[in-house]
Amino acid sequence: MVEQSIWMQKVAADPGHSSWYVERFRSMARAGDDLAGEARLVDTAVPRGARILDAGCGPGRVGGQLAEAGHDVVGVDVDPVLIEAAEQDHPGPRWLVGDLAELDLPARGITAPFDAIVCAGNVMTFLAPSTRSAVLERFRAHLAPGGRVVIGFGAGRGYEFADFFADAAAVGLEPDLLLSTWDLRPFTDDSTFLVALLHER
Ligand SMILES: C[S@@+](CC[C@H](N)C(=O)[O-])C[C@H]1O[C@@H](n2cnc3c(N)ncnc32)[C@H](O)[C@@H]1O
Repeated sequence: MVEQSIWMQKVAADPGHSSWYVERFRSMARAGDDLAGEARLVDTAVPRGARILDAGCGPGRVGGQLAEAGHDVVGVDVDPVLIEAAEQDHPGPRWLVGDLAELDLPARGITAPFDAIVCAGNVMTFLAPSTRSAVLERFRAHLAPGGRVVIGFGAGRGYEFADFFADAAAVGLEPDLLLSTWDLRPFTDDSTFLVALLHER
């Protein structure tokens, strides 16, 4: 067992949190909001028909879009309510309940590694801090040769960017591109958001 994620601590404190989150994204989708920016970036970084892991997929917004673009998507999230919503709203990908700190997809019959692992929507800041390094190590372990890990999260959420870079380096992941937005603006010392594209050293 690993320490409970910050997300599931929130759910324990407020059992309506997951349904609120699902409805928030459903209403944005109904309103025609652009919910596909992360998926567009990832789509540019992989071959056609790539194998993609949506890590901390929530209700399937990013992985669902990538599956529509023709990729073979697996999504994993610790919150079963969100996985149920992903199955309803984005049928097609394999949506699995699990904690990323214990990610072992070969043990669940998914043996092929991934061309890309996308971890969008501040997932890194909702992990239990004690599990951050384990999650990054699990990402590296599930990467195909030449694969990319694409991680986005905001500043001021308890995980300093410098600590993230150090944790990634310690498990053998190093950046090949740092951005401050999903629409490709450069990362600078003043950036309040990070989109890191990493590869295995
Ligand atoms: C703000 S949501 C983002 C959801 C999705 N990535 C998106 O961008 O729409 C954060 C997600 O991180 C997931 N999460 C947090 N800790 C996790 C963990 N240890 N293992 C798997 N998922 C986790 C939560 O369940 C939640 O779905």
